[in-house]
Amino acid sequence: MLQPGIHATEARKARHLDVCLDDDVASTLDAGWSGVRLRHEALPEIALDDVDCAARFLGFRLRAPILISSMTGGTARAAELNLRLAEAAEASGIAMGLGSGRALIENPALMHTFDVRAVAPQAVLFANIGAVSLNYGIGIDDVQRMIAELRADALFLHLNPLQEALQPGGDTNFRGLLPKIAELCAALDVPVVAKSVGSGISPVTAARLLDAGVAGIDTAAAGGTSWARVEGKRSGDDGREALAETFAGWGQPTAEAVCALRARFPSMPLIASGGVRTGVDIARAIALGADLCGLALPFLEAATISRAAVDELIGALVEGLRIAMFATGSATLAGLRRALL
Ligand SMILES: Cc1cc2nc3c(=O)[nH]c(=O)nc-3n(C[C@H](O)[C@H](O)[C@H](O)COP(=O)(O)O)c2cc1C
Repeated sequence: MLQPGIHATEARKARHLDVCLDDDVASTLDAGWSGVRLRHEALPEIALDDVDCAARFLGFRLRAPILISSMTGGTARAAELNLRLAEAAEASGIAMGLGSGRALIENPALMHTFDVRAVAPQAVLFANIGAVSLNYGIGIDDVQRMIAELRADALFLHLNPLQEALQPGGDTNFRGLLPKIAELCAALDVPVVAKSVGSGISPVTAARLLDAGVAGIDTAAAGGTSWARVEGKRSGDDGREALAETFAGWGQPTAEAVCALRARFPSMPLIASGGVRTGVDIARAIALGADLCGLALPFLEAATISRAAVDELIGALVEGLRIAMFATGSATLAGLRRALL
């Protein structure tokens, strides 16, 4: 017998996919990439073939500094999308995040919709859970079990107060979470990376999270998918949607968030995400100090078409990044970090 609420979680996840694919859910803020200028090198003194965009994150090796950001799980459609994304991540040596595992913890029969290890035995894989779930019946042992069963290498802990406040019946009690996050980080034997969902994380909050034992931060800042808009459009209520629209430009733009976090924490593992759309955006984010760059919605759109479309997207991102590196005379990502104007 399923617990009450289980079907609600699955239905919400299914609807999120439709809204993200069918509606305009772009933030009204710009991620800020156009303001980041890289030094063009007219005489690079390297060959394009010399450019190597291999990256390391949390000690894991990647062939390119790209992450398929956390999105889905919990439905038959999600299972297919996750498999396509995971196969592509495995083939191209990039990292992947699974969607929030709350539905899985509530209903273990959904394991097949999250479990991608059969097709991605080597890919760097992040499990995902909302920190606020720790105030709503999800225990540290539940998270530990989920990570073990998914054979995940790390955990994304998402922090989404705005999204919860805008969704009907959202989990809005964020009291006392920091000590629970500290307990979770101490209990797990994989690194925990804290992320937002399109609004960003300030340096002050990052410092509190790092003190609690978090290993790194994913900005998931503003300029890409707006979760205020997603929740507004999902609500089916004109008043709610109008209220959510007033938050469509909420948060810190991603380029700004990356700069602020890198300035304050020179060696913290840092992911830039939120409105990263091209290889040139990735080059700019790396030059600002990011170690890895995540994209969500573009990967959802590609995976909805086919596995080949996901491969094509990754190919275009890598090629754009490599050409930007070549045109700044940077044979490695370390070189690219010196190319900021
Ligand atoms: C369909 C969809 C589902 C998402 N589900 C989750 C989730 O379960 N957990 C999470 O941390 N973030 C989730 N996100 C947020 C993304 O991981 C990412 O932080 C955000 O969308 C910004 O990236 P983008 O501008 O490239 O889409 C989701 C995003 C999309 C598009």
